[in-house]
Parts: sequence; structure tokens; C-alpha cells
Amino acid sequence: MGELGKLRLGVNIDHVATVRNARGGDTPDPLRAARIAQEAGADGITAHLREDRRHISDADIEGLMEILTVPLNFEMAATDEMQAIALRHKPHAVCIVPEKREERTTEGGLEVAREENRLAHFIAPLREAGCRVSIFIAADMRQVEAAHRIGAQVVELHSGAYCDAYHEGRYDVADMELAKMREMAAFGHSLGLEMHVGHGLTYDTVSPVAAFPEVVELNIGHFLIGEAIFLGLAPAMAEMRRLMDAART
Ligand code: PXP
Repeated sequence: MGELGKLRLGVNIDHVATVRNARGGDTPDPLRAARIAQEAGADGITAHLREDRRHISDADIEGLMEILTVPLNFEMAATDEMQAIALRHKPHAVCIVPEKREERTTEGGLEVAREENRLAHFIAPLREAGCRVSIFIAADMRQVEAAHRIGAQVVELHSGAYCDAYHEGRYDVADMELAKMREMAAFGHSLGLEMHVGHGLTYDTVSPVAAFPEVVELNIGHFLIGEAIFLGLAPAMAEMRRLMDAART
């Protein structure tokens, strides 16, 4: 590796469950995807147990806790139900994300600044249980500061606005979003937060983000699972890994 440390790749397997649930049976099995990703060098597996259970199920989380040898990053909304599930399983990491039932995916970052008190109380037992608590936010200084104040150890910056702008050909907006993330990665790091980035990343958008020196982990799902249909999961991950490593040298 070059001067920068190796980036961790967290593989989000939610959309294997999306395809499974489209037919209501057992296949394709997200646990099988997790095993393959793990064998292919994933540094972690990410799964989002949504309140409406549209993809990952409670049984999937139980299964992941049993089979994984790499850390599970459990994404969840800040609700009592999810807190109880996290406290029962004690995954390596818990990433708090905003959730609206009507959205197709996690469309924005969490409003930490407005809910500081509630969120500080919400994450305290998770930290006490030994989970690393991550907060998924937009690249906004107010939110980074608030995440730090409530006691989060990790911040994951939402890369969706950058990726959407890039893929829609609005390159000036993409550059602006990238600059905001770069600045907030450095700012969060200066506060002592561990910095991650995720959402919407593809082969075309990953390199500039992977080059941020303060970022140590990327979480990537939808695009990798889509590529896996054509290439298989391990080769799809290998290409992402190659691009990530190249950006660090
Ligand atoms: N990180 C977080 C916090 C997310 O909520 C998601 C989407 O569930 C991802 C990363 C992965 O995003 P994508 O599936 O678009 O790669």
C-alpha cells in the first residue's frame, strides 16, 4: 500500500434479501452472499434491518451473528424496537440511520443536531454494550459536531448526493458535494471521530472518495449486488477493491 492506510470495504447484502423477498421464498440467501463476501475479502458485512422488514429479516440478523467471522455493521433506525434487537445481539457496530417508510432507500442523513438529547440517551446503552456507534449523516458541520457531542465513535458520511449528481451528469454539483465530504471527513477526524463513507458508490464514483486520507471504511451494497448478477460477487468486489487500493497509492 502507499502512504495511506488500506481502506476497509464493508459489503451491504440488503439487496440479496430484496430479491429473495420478491418471491417470498428462501433464495437467494443473504447469508450465502455474506459468506462469499467474507471469503472474498470483505472487511465487514453491513445489513439494515428496516422497520418494515422489506429486505433483511430478524432471522437474517440472527444468522449473520452466527456465521460471520468479520464484523457485522448493523444499520437501524433510532427506535426502541431496534435498540432492543441490537442489545440482544451486540453486533460489532451499530449505524444509526434515518428511516421513512415511504422512501425507497435511506435518502438523507440523520438530523442529529435537532435531536441531540434523545440520540445521546439512545446510543448510551449501545456503547455500554460494547457496540461501536456510528451515525449516518450528510456532510454538514452542524451534524458532525452534534454526532461528536452525543458520543458517537464513528460518523458515516452520506455519499448519495454526490453519486446521484455524478450519474445524472451534473458534474459541477458532484464536485461540490465531493468537496463538502472531503472537508467534513477532515473535520470529523480532527474531532477524533472515525470516518466512513457510504451510499450509492459505484466503480465510477468510488475513487475520489477512497482518496480521502481520513476515511477508513466504505460501505457499498446496491451497485455491488447488481454487478454480482453479471460477474459474481467475488469478482465484482475485486474490481471495487482494486479501485479503492489504486486511489490510496
Ligand atoms: N451506508 C449506509 C449507512 C446505508 O444506509 C446504505 C444503504 O442501505 C449504504 C451504506 C449502502 O448504500 P448502497 O446500497 O447504495 O451502496
